[in-house]
Amino acid sequence: MRSVLVFMIIIKVVIGKDDFTINFIKSFIENERKPTHLIYNGLCWEKKMELNLVNELFKYGVRCSSSNLPRSTNQDHDLMFLVDLDCPDSEEVLRNASSNNLFRFPFRWLVLSKAGLMDHRNATLWKCPVLISSDLVLAEENEKEFVLTELYRSSPDGPMLSSPRGKYNGAFLDSRPHRELFRRRRDLMGHALVMANVIQDSNSTKEHLLKEDRLELQNDAAVKICWIAARHAFEMLNATRRHIFSYRWGYKVNGEWSGMIQDIKSNRADLATNCVLYSERLDVVTFTDMVAPLRMRFVFRQPPLAYVSNIFSLPFSSNVWVAIAVCTAASTLTLCLTSHWETKVEKNPTQLDGSISDALLLTLSAVAQQGCFVEPKRAPGRILEWFLFTALMALYAAYSANIVVLLQAPSNSIKSLSQLAASKITLAANDVDYSRFVLSPYKDPTHVHIYRRIMPEGEKPNFYHIHEGVEKIRQGLFAYHSIVEPVYRRIEETFLEQEKCDLTEVDFVNGFDAFTPVKKDSPYLEMLRVVYKQIREAGVQGALIKRFLVPKPRCVGEMSAFTSVGLLDIQPVLVFMVYGLLLSVLIAIGEIVVHKVTKRCSIKKMRKQ
Ligand SMILES: *[C@@H]1O[C@H](CO)[C@@H](O)[C@H](O)[C@H]1NC(C)=O
Ligand SMILES: *[C@@H]1O[C@H](CO)[C@@H](O)[C@H](O)[C@H]1NC(C)=O
Ligand SMILES: *[C@@H]1O[C@H](CO)[C@@H](O)[C@H](O)[C@H]1NC(C)=O
Ligand SMILES: *[C@@H]1O[C@H](CO)[C@@H](O)[C@H](O)[C@H]1NC(C)=O
Repeated sequence: MRSVLVFMIIIKVVIGKDDFTINFIKSFIENERKPTHLIYNGLCWEKKMELNLVNELFKYGVRCSSSNLPRSTNQDHDLMFLVDLDCPDSEEVLRNASSNNLFRFPFRWLVLSKAGLMDHRNATLWKCPVLISSDLVLAEENEKEFVLTELYRSSPDGPMLSSPRGKYNGAFLDSRPHRELFRRRRDLMGHALVMANVIQDSNSTKEHLLKEDRLELQNDAAVKICWIAARHAFEMLNATRRHIFSYRWGYKVNGEWSGMIQDIKSNRADLATNCVLYSERLDVVTFTDMVAPLRMRFVFRQPPLAYVSNIFSLPFSSNVWVAIAVCTAASTLTLCLTSHWETKVEKNPTQLDGSISDALLLTLSAVAQQGCFVEPKRAPGRILEWFLFTALMALYAAYSANIVVLLQAPSNSIKSLSQLAASKITLAANDVDYSRFVLSPYKDPTHVHIYRRIMPEGEKPNFYHIHEGVEKIRQGLFAYHSIVEPVYRRIEETFLEQEKCDLTEVDFVNGFDAFTPVKKDSPYLEMLRVVYKQIREAGVQGALIKRFLVPKPRCVGEMSAFTSVGLLDIQPVLVFMVYGLLLSVLIAIGEIVVHKVTKRCSIKKMRKQ
């Protein structure tokens, strides 16, 4: 079977293989039921057999290549490496694969060997980093039979574990209990997984987190949920649980990571408290499942409507106001005409004297729903007056009904970030570590404007402790940026029922939900993904969220709420009165001037005479 060809300089080992091996490879790939691209690097078979292999697999739709990896990583899950340990190059192939980390998921490996040839303690294969996520099958040929074994380690420095995978003796026998890799590898045999917990609110969290006693839930509630979920995950994987604490989520500043993300990056932790997904973080970690919602928002009460617009002009559209003005002018004019005619017929002290000022006085008293002592005495004027009063009565009823509603209405004026930026309400943030990072990395004018209002250049930033911040939200005209959950807990403790009605949240960071980060190429990534999904499916996660977190407060009995009218609400009217006062003073001055001038003129005239 074995022949050695000696060339001039290069010595090349060529092994003859029979169709049995090729049929085995074919049925192995068939049994996988996955799209496959076979890579046989460093194979030393006869050219004829190599061609035979490629042909046979080609018929089954499997691509083969003898060179290294394709450039694109999109098809990594298709790749299957074939190594024959009898070939002298195989050791180098394995070493190359170790240094390029090719044993990891999703690559597949099929390693051929002669039974009994290998000393397991020395072989290169036994030193390779075949970790728990690796799919490596060792096929040992043994007198017309291949015996298949799966090899993996549960931790990088643990012993190599093996489990039977089946055999081939013309027919393929698959002895895996489950086809899914991660269902077979659920036992980490006590390998220690480290969870990084982030503490933001209080250092007492350390104690209550580990005791899981649900005390002081106002501090880091989401972190406590994440720890409990991770503890369940460790139990499901038979892993030993370890924990570390960090005091920052982790942000990239000048190319350096800090906090929790740095802990993962430097291998101090395998997974961590769930955190908001930033594209930068994707370089270091992979996000798996959401465990506890971690929404960062501006929370505020909508300013009352009177603050954002003139409620006295709101009941009617501007067209109606124009129509009222036109009607008033027309009625003044017609009243003036009719009274002019009346004065010719009779004269009476309570009668309109035919001047425009009397007509205007009557019309304006009708507009203001007041009476007037002068009135028309004859039918045409009276008909006109009657029409004017009726029309204005209907308008007045509509107007006053509208004003009552508007006085009580909170405005819905601030719904988006740009409206928040344009409003005059105070902006501030929670006085914790993340506030110093999450607000700054934006370039667009709206975000920069808001950032500058919270952190004015050269002044003290607008950071408030949560108790103070929530009290200011209650007083109104104050927007507070924080993770919403502790804010809502405090609101439930301190707000009156109707004060919760107009609570609004506006997103600044455009955050998705928060997800649990795992180191990007961690061998435990898929396993953690699977168990986290199971924790979610079993409803454990939902129960934890209900137990630990407070949802957005809702108010009951909105209609019975009594709102008092303040100076702010009638501000337009007061301004209007001030204008009127100024105008009357001006008119008075004008009258005095005119009086003095005419007096002087008449004195001059008298002197001349
Ligand atoms: C191993 O890697 C080196 C360089 O990366 C390459 O030159 C060599 O051909 C590789 N060997 C095999 C057998 O693939
Ligand atoms: C295994 O390694 C030891 C020492 O490193 C060496 O003496 C022995 O010959 C090796 N065995 C095989 C089968 O390569
Ligand atoms: C869990 O791991 C330990 C090793 O730490 C092992 O002895 C035990 O059999 C494993 N338990 C299960 C249920 O597999
Ligand atoms: C908690 O303790 C650490 C180290 O002792 C300190 O750096 C951190 O600021 C503390 N955090 C709080 C919220 O007190």
